[in-house]
Amino acid sequence: MPRGLPRRFSLAGRRLCGSRLFIKKMPAPQIQLRQWKDADFAAFAAMNADAEVMRYFVAPLSAEESRSALQRFRQTIDTRGWGSWAVEVDGSFAGFTGLAEPKFEAHFTPCVEIGWRFLREYWGRGIAFAAAQQAEHYAFTVLELDQLVSFTTEANLRSRKLMERLGFTRNPSDDFLHPKIADDHPQRRHVLYRKMNPNSGNSVVDRSKKSG
Ligand SMILES: CC(C)(COP(=O)(O)OP(=O)(O)OC[C@H]1O[C@@H](n2cnc3c(N)ncnc32)[C@H](O)[C@@H]1OP(=O)(O)O)[C@@H](O)C(=O)NCCC(=O)NCCS
Repeated sequence: MPRGLPRRFSLAGRRLCGSRLFIKKMPAPQIQLRQWKDADFAAFAAMNADAEVMRYFVAPLSAEESRSALQRFRQTIDTRGWGSWAVEVDGSFAGFTGLAEPKFEAHFTPCVEIGWRFLREYWGRGIAFAAAQQAEHYAFTVLELDQLVSFTTEANLRSRKLMERLGFTRNPSDDFLHPKIADDHPQRRHVLYRKMNPNSGNSVVDRSKKSG
């Protein structure tokens, strides 16, 4: 699991004392990326069944689809050590973030993408950002990937803002029609963002391809 990663502090709880304004430092939420547990299932399935969370996907997931997604995520982490991690905030399941290799062919594949999905009560608090920073740190310092990509439907502005906050940039010439989504579906048009590894170096994925 990603370790030794920066924790941030949020400023909140201002109070006035005499004529001076004091800013009380609240403890930052403890955000941990970890392997999946059976106990995550109920919250994971509820998140995937929430129409607002799944607004920019083809459809919300059934309980059965969530069960197989959880098993797939867990198995991938078990076999290769990284993937889409469960995110725990102050001891409770909050969503997931992590790294995946898209299974479809496009002008930017093969590649490693960073992605995220959180229960609605965790939105708007910088939690997805802090969790994604940990996944990005793992990708760039442990896996030493040259580049990460991230993509979403054009209209998913929350996700795009998160990409931009992380320092990903979009070149409109990278936009693409998602090959797994039907031709006439409104979510088919996707935007692609990229971020180069600031430390540079060769990626584990690239190295394995070179040696193979
Ligand atoms: C995409 C998603 C993860 C973004 O979550 P998010 O909470 O908006 O993202 P961040 O963690 O970057 O938080 C940013 C917000 O927290 C606020 N914030 C509060 N404290 C903060 C802090 N310490 N640091 C950064 N931002 C902070 C920001 O001002 C911003 O607020 P805004 O939403 O009013 O602009 C979330 O909307 C989601 O799960 N969506 C559904 C799934 C999905 O679409 N996934 C992407 C598919 S490709």
